[in-house]
Formats: sequence, structure tokens, C-alpha cells
Amino acid sequence: TTTKRIAVTPGDGIGPEVIDQAVACLQDLRDQFQLDLEWEIFDWPSHRWHEKHGEVMPEDALDQLRSFDAILLGALGDPGPMTDPNRHLLPDSISLAPLLQMRKGFDQWVCERPARLLPGARQYLADDRARDIDMLVIRENSEGEYVAQGGRLRPGSPDEVATQMEVFTRRATDRIIRYGFEQARARAATRSADGKPRQFKTLDGRTCESQVCLVTKRNALRYWGDMYTEALAAIATEYPDVATHHELVDAACMKFVQAPWAFDVVVASNLQGDILTDLAAVLSGGMGVAPSCNLNPDDRSMPSMFEPTHGSAPDIAGQGLADPTAMLFTTARMLQWLANDEDEKLQHAADTLYNAMAADLAAHGGERRKTVEIGQAVRLRMKG
Ligand code: IPM
Ligand code: MN
Repeated sequence: TTTKRIAVTPGDGIGPEVIDQAVACLQDLRDQFQLDLEWEIFDWPSHRWHEKHGEVMPEDALDQLRSFDAILLGALGDPGPMTDPNRHLLPDSISLAPLLQMRKGFDQWVCERPARLLPGARQYLADDRARDIDMLVIRENSEGEYVAQGGRLRPGSPDEVATQMEVFTRRATDRIIRYGFEQARARAATRSADGKPRQFKTLDGRTCESQVCLVTKRNALRYWGDMYTEALAAIATEYPDVATHHELVDAACMKFVQAPWAFDVVVASNLQGDILTDLAAVLSGGMGVAPSCNLNPDDRSMPSMFEPTHGSAPDIAGQGLADPTAMLFTTARMLQWLANDEDEKLQHAADTLYNAMAADLAAHGGERRKTVEIGQAVRLRMKG
């Protein structure tokens, strides 16, 4: 096997705090399983970098990252130090740009955001069926509402007009929907390998083992809505074992709250997926536990990027209070990605981290603990 190389970008706010715990876990796992794993830390805090260089990351940042197998990212978004009177001068759209540049530059066209309410995680919904929540939201990550085309006409004037274009291609639509079906099938297979196929009742009252629910707003945004719908129907014929369903995004929000246990795989556009995954995160324990990843499944020579769903939380940064759970689940997912169904040691390391994190959550979920305390407890558990 060749050495797997990880670019670690701690980023802003609580990013460096949760990344420290991830790196400590990687160190222990490397020793424990003799992993052929290396990493390099790229310390590019947006605000400080911007003050010095007028940019939030080095000009050649993508080139520096390109040769790595994965990027582990803490969090981005920095309005500046709390004490700085010029705070908020650096707009979100600038300090968050690197995230979008990496997704685009490395063609990370899938964003996977699992939402599973694990034992110990905070249950926001009163209905105890919430314990059965186990969905995977797949967000189209390369185009759609995020193409950054448009502009402002007569800025600042009462007659100002802002336009923001959305672009959807059939190619990107087909590949994300097909990816959804593959995941639905894979999830069903793992479940039955556990000996407990998850039979669940879908919203329309059917019982099935796996489903792809497509989300659009095709009643108002017709063109891409129709294209998505046709793509779903065409690709579904290749997956007779996977049920299909469609929801309009507003109704999907409602049903995520009413009956989130009736969803399996959900495929959504870039922006609608963004919004749905904050909601899904809360349904499955909150931002503190929600992992996320940005994948390029066709080209492993480009780094995929692993980041928690949460942001940089400047309000609690620097106090050692951030929950590293989401970061550690995300790190486990990264190791699984790097293992790629081939490297047993890496896969074992991924499972060890995941299981330790899940066990810690089950034992201590809901307790107020410091970032470091949680990280240490997880590492102790990894040693068995
Ligand atoms: C996310 C974030 C980003 C997004 C922001 C920070 C640009 O909300 O990863 O979900 O909208 O994709
Ligand atoms: Mn988001």
C-alpha cells in the first residue's frame, strides 16, 4: 500500500480546537494499527491571513492541497476577533470562499450528510420514533444555486436589481441521482449483513428496505425540477430493488419534522440540500454531532474534503467548549473513504474511532464537558 496523505486545515473559530482532537486520535490510531498515514497542517486562519495578504488563503492554496488524498477541515468563517472594533468587516462571502473553491477545484460533487439519531444524542423531537431516524442526505455539490453567476445592477440605488443564476446540467443531475441509488442499495446491504434489515414504512404507507427520495421545487422552479424528475425515473429502472419518492422542498421540511423516520436516502440540489441538512442535523442530535463530507467519487487522485456540518461558532471559540463529536465522526468517515474497501487496517481504524465516539456519546451524551475531555475519553475507549 502507498502512504495516505492528509492535509489538515484547522480554519477559524472552534475549527482548531476540534481539529486538535481529531489529530490526537489520528496519532493514536496510526500507532495502534501501524497505519501508513501522514498529515500536514495548513494554518490559514481567514481573518489573520486576510489582514496580512488581502486574501483569506494563499493564492496557490489549491495547488498546495492537490496532491493530498484527503483534506480534513475544521471550520471556516471568521468575522474577526470579538474585541476588534472592525469586526464583521470581512464578510462571510469572503471568509467562506475557500470552502466553495475546494469543492469546485477538486470537483467534489457529492456532499454526504448522514442523519442518524444515535443513543445519547440529544432528541429534539418529542416523538420517540425519532430514535429510528436514519437517513442519508445527498446534496448535489457542484452547481445549481451555487454557480455564483449574476450581478447587481445600479447597486445601492432604489432601482437596484440583483440577479442570481441557477444552472443545472443533465450530467451532474444524473450522476448525483445515480449516486443516491448506489448508496440506498449499499445501505440496505449493510443492514441485512447486520442481520437486521431495516423495514420501514415510507410516507406513502409502503414498507420497504431502501428508498431514494428526490427533493425539488418543481411546482415553481419547473425547468430543473422536471429534469430532475425525469432523471430519477430513468435511473430508477436500473434499481428495481430501491423504492422512489418525490417531495417538494417545503413539504419535505414539514415531513422531516413530522416523520423523519420515514426517510432513507434523500437527494437534493445544492441549496435545498444545504438547508435540509441543517434541519436533518438538528433532528439527529444537533450541530455538535453532525458529520459531513465532500467527495469526488470518480477521481481519487484529487482530495476529497471532510468537514463537520457545523461552522466556526465564533461565539464560543477559544473557550474549549466546542463539541468535537461531529469532527471525530467526520474523521472516521475520512478514514473509511481512504480505506476504500481495500485497506483493512484503515477500515479497522475507521471503525474503532467511530465505535469509540458512539460509545462515548451513549455514555455521556447530554453532559457538559470540555472539548479536550471528550477527545481524551474517546481515545481511551479506542485502546479498548
Ligand atoms: C455548509 C455551509 C456552506 C454552504 C457555507 C459556509 C458556504 O453552510 O457547508 O453547509 O452553504 O455550503
Ligand atoms: Mn450549510
